[in-house]
Amino acid sequence: MSRGLFISFEGGDGSGKSTQYRLFAEYLSSIGYDVVLTREPGGTRISERIRGLLLDPECSEMDDMTEALLFAAARAQHVRELIRPALEEGKTVLSDRFVDSSYVYQGMVRGLNESVYVINDYALDGVAPDITFLLDISPAKGRSRNRSEGKDDRLEQQSLDFHRKVCDGFRALSEKFSDRFIVIDASGTVKEVHDEIVRRFNEWMAERDAGKQ
Ligand code: TYD
Repeated sequence: MSRGLFISFEGGDGSGKSTQYRLFAEYLSSIGYDVVLTREPGGTRISERIRGLLLDPECSEMDDMTEALLFAAARAQHVRELIRPALEEGKTVLSDRFVDSSYVYQGMVRGLNESVYVINDYALDGVAPDITFLLDISPAKGRSRNRSEGKDDRLEQQSLDFHRKVCDGFRALSEKFSDRFIVIDASGTVKEVHDEIVRRFNEWMAERDAGKQ
């Protein structure tokens, strides 16, 4: 059996990423893919417990390195318990956020830089997304979308400047890892963005299949 596809969705807060990843999963299921939906931080019992700690507004004294290690710890469990076994069974795994969030939030925004790559090399153990969809949206628009949803956890209580750094960080990563990143303009309607994701995915699959011939 051939290994399944691993697809991650990334983007700043309020980019509509979670809605789009669910819609895309429905699309893939409708055309016959065996899809596993998961998210980070989370995806397994242990990783979800670590998530609780990471997003707890009462943990405001958490050190940046502690935070980076906890995200990586949640990921190590996620990769070994859920992602790799599913891929080996030929399933398509869709994750709402993955390691690129650590490269951006902990590495570039918090300033831990290269140490985040080192920590995550251990967590990933060779597992990497085949495709990463970046839902790109201006920080001001993303933030206003989130506010109207009343979201307010520890990591979302941050300034607009923080959101701008996140946005710039993801754009920089999409250039660094241009082989797997697909950047989607997320400012349109839910349907417009979904259609664009499907179009770009089919384009990517056609190119991959052409490369195999
Ligand atoms: P979540 O409520 O899932 O936010 P979103 O809907 O924006 O995905 O919270 C996840 C938060 O954790 C989000 O602010 C990004 C942050 N995060 C990191 O800082 N590093 C990471 O490695 C991951 C996976 C998430």
